[in-house]
Amino acid sequence: MPNIPRTLKDLPSPKEHWLKGNLGQFKPDEIHTYFYKHAKALGDTYKIRLFNKPVVVVSNAAVVFDILKQRPSRYRRAKHIESIYKNASVHGAFSSEGEQWKNYRQLLAPAFKPKNIKRMLPIIQKSVARFLANIKQAPQSFDMRTQLHRLLVDITCELAFGYDINTLNNPDSKLQGHLNIVFDQLSRTSTPPTLYSRLMRPCQKTLDTSLAYVRKEILQFIRTTKSQLTPEHEPNTILEALLLAKDEQGQAFSEEIIYGNIITLLSAGEDTTASTVAWAVYYLAKNQNLQQTVRDEITQHYPPQGPLQWQDLDNFPLTLGACQEALRLEPAVPFLLLEPLGDEVINGVYISKGTTVAVLLAAGNHNTALFEHSEHFNPARWQAFTPEQKKQSAVELSPFGGGPRLCPGMQLSLTEQKIILIELLKHYNITLDNTKPAVKSQYRLAATPAHLRVSAVALQPAAMTPQGMAPAATAQATQPQTQPASPTVNSQPSPQYARAHTIE
Ligand code: HEM
Repeated sequence: MPNIPRTLKDLPSPKEHWLKGNLGQFKPDEIHTYFYKHAKALGDTYKIRLFNKPVVVVSNAAVVFDILKQRPSRYRRAKHIESIYKNASVHGAFSSEGEQWKNYRQLLAPAFKPKNIKRMLPIIQKSVARFLANIKQAPQSFDMRTQLHRLLVDITCELAFGYDINTLNNPDSKLQGHLNIVFDQLSRTSTPPTLYSRLMRPCQKTLDTSLAYVRKEILQFIRTTKSQLTPEHEPNTILEALLLAKDEQGQAFSEEIIYGNIITLLSAGEDTTASTVAWAVYYLAKNQNLQQTVRDEITQHYPPQGPLQWQDLDNFPLTLGACQEALRLEPAVPFLLLEPLGDEVINGVYISKGTTVAVLLAAGNHNTALFEHSEHFNPARWQAFTPEQKKQSAVELSPFGGGPRLCPGMQLSLTEQKIILIELLKHYNITLDNTKPAVKSQYRLAATPAHLRVSAVALQPAAMTPQGMAPAATAQATQPQTQPASPTVNSQPSPQYARAHTIE
């Protein structure tokens, strides 16, 4: 007997209301928690219903991996994403499809070459130094996520359009205020297209005002930068790289295309990176022994004359492991909303063209055959992996997506994450402020730790010897270990991320 695919009717689902389906069972910013919780209970393919619209939720890691690879020919992003970005006139690589998408990827590719990321280091380091200085002035207990968000806004804006917006010292920046309103609109693409998201629509007049302001300012930056560029110029920012890029006919890209892609980069690069570092800080603050072990690696390999150079960045595998663990346990982009371009059979289930499919990107994060004590935040596990296990981890987890649409900002983000963690832990011991409300995951443009209040104690250089415990950490060192012990540090980067610092 041939295997007859199941249909949507056969799929399990959380208990539904007869009319609304599962609408109202989750807040829009908790949709990711809802998807993962029900994947545990209902299995690797289930459905939810939002009024009459089904959404199929897929959490079988191998199936997700395969779907991601089948783009652009068999799957696309859910259609409402394209229309929301287009209506806001900020259409770029993330929201486009087909030939246009290929064209936009060609535009972005040079900006993210390692040799160009290397040239961006001074901009990253300047803002990180400002972030550290701000922490020094911070009250005893402060919201780390907010500080990290401002840091990433500053870095990303300066990389994306060459302007130092300095929200760290100027949190009420007019441009950032308007960008926030635009990003709120774009964040609606994280929820399925239902009444839910229609109810969340911001006031059109406010949105139009913000869109007009952002457009005017950014076009100005584009024109100024363009007027100063020569063809031989080596790009120091993403904007310069985009202005120097050529399409297949050898022509420069239009201002309109560059503008749409600049906004795309801002919205894709800020919250995702800030949230990942914030989660790493959260887990390291929870476990002081582990924080000190990571700090020991930093102290041991930080160049004595400072500052960090590009070639130093491969010497911090445990710090990189902390970023990888944050992405495993708390992926900044927990799922993608896609749809098949034709009828498909997904994991033995017949799915008709255009059905919304939510693919969970950290589907295998608790696969204990690979991630022993999977609930533990254990940065050292990544170094201990065999080449075979590393390959498998790339199937189990797709925090940066996969296939041809793999996030082009992955290497830049990992570079930023490492530099921020290295500098932060080198200079401060971080502890959690356990006052209520408790830290919880909230999804807007990224899944981020809300209420991450911490204290930061400045470390004396003498207290940071590789052998010595920092004073603030010593007090906690006697507390019970909640994590398995870390194996010896080995300075090889994991192949999954090995390209991060290879200079071409
Ligand atoms: C921790 C940080 C980040 C995470 C977790 C992340 C994750 C993702 C994911 C899951 C996708 C969808 C990929 C797919 O469809 O397969 C994506 C796409 C994208 N990301 Fe990132 N990202 C991060 C940082 C960045 C940065 C720093 C930039 C640039 C400044 C960036 C630019 C983009 C762009 C342009 C796309 C669209 C690619 C396409 O559709 O072809 N991302 N990212």
